[in-house]
Amino acid sequence: MHEPNAAGEPLLKVENLCKSYGSFKALKGVSFTLQPGETMAVVGESGSGKSTLARALLRLDEADSGHAYWKGRDLLKMPAKELYQLRRQMQMVFQDPTQSLNPRMTVYQLISEAWVIHPEILPKPQWRARVEELLTQVGLSPAHAERYPHQFSGGQRQRIAIARALALRPELIVCDEAVSALDVSIQAQVIALLDKLRRELGIAFIFIAHDLPVVRDFADHVMVMQSGECVEVGTVRQIFESPQRDYTRRLLDAGLDPDPRVQAARRMPKVRAGLEMG
Ligand SMILES: Nc1ncnc2c1ncn2[C@@H]1O[C@H](COP(=O)(O)OP(=O)(O)OP(=O)(O)O)[C@@H](O)[C@H]1O
Ligand SMILES: [Mg+2]
Repeated sequence: MHEPNAAGEPLLKVENLCKSYGSFKALKGVSFTLQPGETMAVVGESGSGKSTLARALLRLDEADSGHAYWKGRDLLKMPAKELYQLRRQMQMVFQDPTQSLNPRMTVYQLISEAWVIHPEILPKPQWRARVEELLTQVGLSPAHAERYPHQFSGGQRQRIAIARALALRPELIVCDEAVSALDVSIQAQVIALLDKLRRELGIAFIFIAHDLPVVRDFADHVMVMQSGECVEVGTVRQIFESPQRDYTRRLLDAGLDPDPRVQAARRMPKVRAGLEMG
């Protein structure tokens, strides 16, 4: 478990975050608060600024203005050295794991790479056992450590990407469309895995998704984005049961597949069926 925050600070507090690309305003003042262990889904149409928000928070891109506080520390003004130390506490999982997993490295190398960079986390004699433990934790098998990324299915590769993120013992994982490329039943399995990790390890998530039904059983709060702005924020229940904006209602309607079997599969995480390999 993670060290408690001084004075009950939120894990992340974002105020009026802005980001432009040239004259185009991709983020127009986004604010929200995330508590430790909490999951916030970020949904909105393509181009609404979801990835821009994620990138600005992880400082993969620099925001133009606004504030982001990590346990009260100003993330956006943090010097490089301090940021480097903090990076391991915030991990990102992307849509396409093939791009983030070097095809020439074995799973063992991919997962232990994090400890080469951050040797303070784990002494080398413990790497093998920890890799095997992580593989088991994400629903893969210890024997998979010697395989290469191309020897896995898309869902399994995403599990490897998650194991890799976990290797750094993060307090926040930002998932940018992490399940969007997967089949519906595999999506449900990966979300069930993330849900398990959240409960067992107390990790907070920012979970970016196109599809609202996907987040229903997983998120605590939902932030709805449109054209670089947060247009509605609420608990999952508020957003699903009494959305205030037409835009949110449209997103809810668009996400509803007419086939009830597909809807059931999407909602499978609650059934706990999804922890076997995908
Ligand atoms: N590096 C960039 N240079 C110029 N414009 C950009 C850049 N990155 C993003 N944009 C623009 O900013 C807007 C928001 O992009 P962003 O990637 O955040 O959207 P998104 O909500 O993640 O969309 P999607 O759901 O399709 O992933 C888009 O209009 C996009 O064209
Ligand atoms: Mg995006």
